[in-house]
Amino acid sequence: MTRKRVGVLISGRGSNLGALIEACKAPGYPAKIVLVISNVPSAQGLLRAESALIPALVINHKDFAAREEFDAALDNALEEAGVELLCNAGFMRLHSEGFVERWRNRHLNVHPSLLPAFRGLHAHERVLEASATITGCTVHFVRAEMDTGPIVAQAAVPVLPGDTPESLGARVLEAEHRLYPHALRLVASGEVRVEDEHVVRTTQITPQPPFFSPPLDEAL
Ligand code: GRF
Repeated sequence: MTRKRVGVLISGRGSNLGALIEACKAPGYPAKIVLVISNVPSAQGLLRAESALIPALVINHKDFAAREEFDAALDNALEEAGVELLCNAGFMRLHSEGFVERWRNRHLNVHPSLLPAFRGLHAHERVLEASATITGCTVHFVRAEMDTGPIVAQAAVPVLPGDTPESLGARVLEAEHRLYPHALRLVASGEVRVEDEHVVRTTQITPQPPFFSPPLDEAL
């Protein structure tokens, strides 16, 4: 089996990167991480890459006059490492349209809500303000508009009485750590592809995405 060569873009803690690193250790997992890039020099996620012996780079957006120049530097590094699939994992920069086009249908993002609801920042605060009783997380292909693009997989997470943005965020993050490796597996193995801006299955037998995380009977 040839594993797809994956690049991961981060800006901070890198817990989703950690989940992807763990997943890639499994025999038969169809992807391996060959490069991690952070736009923030102090990002904790860089240490995770280092301890997993994965090449990691800082490309600081502040060193570039224009978004396109920063994206070109990202692109060069990714090409040089032979990256085939790109995963944003807590990467806090918008990409230029050219970059998005170059990586079209080869570029994933994880967002901490059930898209298309609660796009953008502070999703958990807004879920609580709206008194929603279910939220979750989404892995989707990247498009130029923030938090849009064909959805690969979602997991639902209950909102519990007394939740704060922090407690809800922690529960959703656990689901992200299960969902992102699952979604990357689907894409890297070719079990899904994009047709007419929708993700379609190319095989009959597919693993089921986690639905409620934690299972509802444990949560309530
Ligand atoms: C995650 O909640 C992700 O959904 C959002 O940013 C957060 C990143 O967390 N895009 P981490 O850096 O992976 O720990």
